Amino acid sequence: MRYGYFDDDNKEYVIERPDIPASWINYLGVKNLCTVISHNAGGYTFYKSPEHHRITRFRQNAVPLDRPGHYIYLRDDETGEYWTISWQPVGKDLAKAKYICRHGLSYSKFQCNYRKIEAEQLLFIPVNDDVELWDIKIKNKSKKNRKLSIFTYLEFSFHHIEIDNQNLQMSLYASGSSFDNGIIECDFFYEPWTYHFFASNFDPDSYDCVRDDFLGNYRTETNPIAVENGNCSDSSRLGGNQCASLHKKLILKPGEETRLIFMLGVGSRNEKGRDVKKKYSDLKNVDKAFEELKQYWERKLSVLQVKTPHRGFNTMINIWTLYQAEICVIWSRFASFIEVGGRVGLGFRDTSQDIMGVVHSNPEKTKQRIIQLLRGHTSSGYGLHLFDPYIFEQNKNGLLDVKLPTVVPQKKSSDIIHGIEDVCSDDALWLVVSICEWIVENGDLDFFNYVVPYVDGGEGTIYEHLTKILDFSAKYVGKNGVCQGLRADWNDCLNLGGGESAMVSFMHHWALNVFVDSAKKLGEDGDVKKYSQVAAKVKEACERELWDGGWYIRGFTKKGIKIGTKESEEGRIFLNSQSWAVYSEVASNERAVKCMDNVDKFLFSQYGLHIALPAYSKPDDDIGYITRVYKGIKENGSIFCHPNPWAVIAECKLGRGNRAMKFYDAILPYNQNDLIEVREAEPYSYCQFVVGKDHKDYGKAKHSWLTGTAGWFYTAATKYILGIRPTYDGLIIDPCIPSDWEEFEVQRKWRGATYNIRVKNPRGVEKGVKCISLNGADVHGPVPIQPESSVNEVEVILGKANS
Ligand code: NOJ
Repeated sequence: MRYGYFDDDNKEYVIERPDIPASWINYLGVKNLCTVISHNAGGYTFYKSPEHHRITRFRQNAVPLDRPGHYIYLRDDETGEYWTISWQPVGKDLAKAKYICRHGLSYSKFQCNYRKIEAEQLLFIPVNDDVELWDIKIKNKSKKNRKLSIFTYLEFSFHHIEIDNQNLQMSLYASGSSFDNGIIECDFFYEPWTYHFFASNFDPDSYDCVRDDFLGNYRTETNPIAVENGNCSDSSRLGGNQCASLHKKLILKPGEETRLIFMLGVGSRNEKGRDVKKKYSDLKNVDKAFEELKQYWERKLSVLQVKTPHRGFNTMINIWTLYQAEICVIWSRFASFIEVGGRVGLGFRDTSQDIMGVVHSNPEKTKQRIIQLLRGHTSSGYGLHLFDPYIFEQNKNGLLDVKLPTVVPQKKSSDIIHGIEDVCSDDALWLVVSICEWIVENGDLDFFNYVVPYVDGGEGTIYEHLTKILDFSAKYVGKNGVCQGLRADWNDCLNLGGGESAMVSFMHHWALNVFVDSAKKLGEDGDVKKYSQVAAKVKEACERELWDGGWYIRGFTKKGIKIGTKESEEGRIFLNSQSWAVYSEVASNERAVKCMDNVDKFLFSQYGLHIALPAYSKPDDDIGYITRVYKGIKENGSIFCHPNPWAVIAECKLGRGNRAMKFYDAILPYNQNDLIEVREAEPYSYCQFVVGKDHKDYGKAKHSWLTGTAGWFYTAATKYILGIRPTYDGLIIDPCIPSDWEEFEVQRKWRGATYNIRVKNPRGVEKGVKCISLNGADVHGPVPIQPESSVNEVEVILGKANS
């Protein structure tokens, strides 16, 4: 069953049936202001932080789904009938009303055709203004004059999630609303610097600022009394729950179209509100802002564009997977419909990984994230698992300067430092590779010398920070010489405190190799030697202790019991220890082939690779929380999506392009576009997990958008399947593709030059480069870095070298 389709020309996903069993969401905003919005216009807005500065309210995990939202009601003033431009909240009969939602890059467009009135609601946030614009078009398609009313509706939130959700005693009576000069203002009396406003480009006929007056007693957004009556009651109040409804009566002649603009912003009516109203009352400024937003994304996407024989691969890599990865970096991982701002900040491991996927398309934001993460790095080498980087800016931007009306002690940055007992042993290792990749991509070797303070005192260059991370992992090894698991490794639910983690040792080896490349480039010969020796030692310990005959074990519990061995009744084989043994280049070729064959044999399914099987059924605190999640769910035997691209990379390392594509395809959301009765979640977004085969919801995808899967699949597809990898010495082109791909093209911009790469595969191989030419001349090895602004033609023929 399908609910929509990919419109590649417009870079949109078009939802034709809005009665989807799940919320299909999108993200508006690319800088400070963000709205998370569903295909039915439900969702919420926040400014910078979903915890500290919320603007509109959302009732998460509630019924009806996705309420409230940013709605437009239309009313036929002759019959009294009303509906919304998004299907919900009024929910007209789908046999009579036609609804479409187009989710685009940082905008969503809702379209409705009912009773011969065509209406459109475009929502977006300009790149350079902290205001959400609602651009509304209404057209009379009938043959007679139509008398209509239009009403907006949104519900304001109290500014801080805690006092919006839990502690209403002060906020409910200390913030209010008013209407003046055509602008609704929601003020926070207890916090005099915070105001939100809602304005339009016309003089309204009536308004409501008070939620309960707009909705009416015992009513909901489905049947608001104001819309039913055809008029708001001009309500405003000091205290209570505030909303923004502006009402306008319209008379449209046959064929006539009108356009109305609404603006939701941060700031007071008389300062920001007035200016914004003036600016965006001019439709030219709205059009310009929308065009700028399109250009913003166009520039990002144009850094890497592909044309392969695989349509879904093209659509996802050229548009959606990069977009999803960017969203994870811009908004971090805590603003969705699953996490709505109660947890905020940066997960050390999550953000470190997210950076890797978009170093080429977002050098500025990724650089900022790197520095923020290093502020949460300790002088002993570990990273703070989860912290809010704004704590380092307190008293400067007012964000953490917020004084809640009840007494909550102010946090100091030193309060956030946790000890070794809460360290996740993988956290900081990711950052070593992210930083090296950022530098390789952007060519700024001097960034290694940039000095950043340690969170617990002192400071060091970025290069020194990296050595501390590598030294930490070398120090914290268990009795088998494998890295300690500490609180957890990448797998939050595998709690190997006191035990050892194979994955972290493999990661250590990987990070050491990447670091050694950089040290060589910097001429740090002492460190090249030192860290190469550490890498050799790590490899030796892994090969000695972790090989189990058919695959690598996942680690040791604190009691010394092996996890993921052929003797285990449950959790017998884990995906990450195989993919990482190969990706990290620890595994010998023979073991690599064997363990990845067993991944295919034991973990593969039509929806992707399971994280581990058989799933655990008996709680075992020696192994951890993984054993206390139902079978087939999350880390316990689901098709956890994030590790899937690592297996694709491993297969590419082994030169098995057909197998790599089999793994890529099984979990590709695009491929499930017509299978939504099973998948349920968005087909344009990777999810955190797909329910595994041991659960009756097998195949359902859960937690869309905020997952490291997007960045890693982007990396797997572009750097390993297509094989295009920047290095200090030039651009490596080493594809690993399905044997039936006859050719593909990539346009890659790198350090100011453009490379038009055409790859031909006349012999139907999966891997192997016969020859490369750059602008007609033969190249041996990586394609050398070309001058800025140059456009270069690169021809690659696959096959055996010199065949
Ligand atoms: C989700 C967490 O955000 C991430 O940090 C972790 O690696 C995965 N779950 C796996 O446990």
